[in-house]
Amino acid sequence: MREKISVIRNADELKTWTRQQKLAGKTIGLVPTMGYLHAGHRSLIEAAVKACDVVVVSDFVNPTQFGPSEDYATYPRDEAKDLALCDEAGASVLFVPTVETLYPNGQDSAWVEVNHLGDHFCGAQRPGHFRGVTTVVMKLLLLSHADKAFFGEKDYQQLTIIRRMVSDFGVDCEIVGCPLVRESDGLALSSRNVNLKGNARKDALVLYRGLLAAKALFASGERRSEALIEAAKNVIESVAEASIQYIEVADPDTLDIFKDKTGERVQMLMAVRVGGVRLIDNMRL
Ligand code: PAJ
Repeated sequence: MREKISVIRNADELKTWTRQQKLAGKTIGLVPTMGYLHAGHRSLIEAAVKACDVVVVSDFVNPTQFGPSEDYATYPRDEAKDLALCDEAGASVLFVPTVETLYPNGQDSAWVEVNHLGDHFCGAQRPGHFRGVTTVVMKLLLLSHADKAFFGEKDYQQLTIIRRMVSDFGVDCEIVGCPLVRESDGLALSSRNVNLKGNARKDALVLYRGLLAAKALFASGERRSEALIEAAKNVIESVAEASIQYIEVADPDTLDIFKDKTGERVQMLMAVRVGGVRLIDNMRL
């Protein structure tokens, strides 16, 4: 029978445990999260359990990836529920460090920064965000000795940046991208969806509908970036409470923006504020 999940809070303890697993010949999967887990996170954990002998899920709301006016303080948390979900999904360890554990020197820390990939899309609107993400992910990769780490295509730019970081540093870990999981009506699952109050939940569907409109136009042969973006924009702007932060079409591997005409492989990425909540979504057209 499978062992019950353990909670580890201490970095040295995690390192020792993962080193022992390695010595015993086990492969290690890592699923980094900020907690408040939902079916999207669960799909990553299940993919990791399938592919690896033991799986570490990290549950850490990482302060360094939030800007000063962002929602760090109000980010939803529920460790007990997260633990139950991870156990059910077959994870071996839930790693729940404190801020002091991962940042013993506070802001006076070593940082990991990845080239221009973090400059546009979310990076342009959230300065320092991706530096926070890459720094914490590098710490988690090193502490967990992971053979494979699992990330969702929901955060498409994040996944691309992490792939680049691992490749540039020669980190011996395979980055596995997992498909975006949606609610049955199309809303991309996100821990922040709990903040969508009243009509905002319904209004939030405009992201998905906008992406579908662009996809349909692309399928009909349209390759002008502006026309594809316009198709999504028209849908989103039909809802008064939705305000577009960005919509772009880009190369799915390099995230180079198609300014004029697209290629045949195109990723549309967007961020839209609905009822005060910033939502992101993306789709292969
Ligand atoms: P978080 O938003 O909690 O997401 C953790 C992982 O779950 C990420 O890889 C994200 O892409 C994936 N995920 C979230 N919603 C998903 C969905 N609807 N479908 C598929 N995958 C989904 O992303 C972060 O945390 C942080 O930036 C982190 C990488 C943990 C670094 O702090």
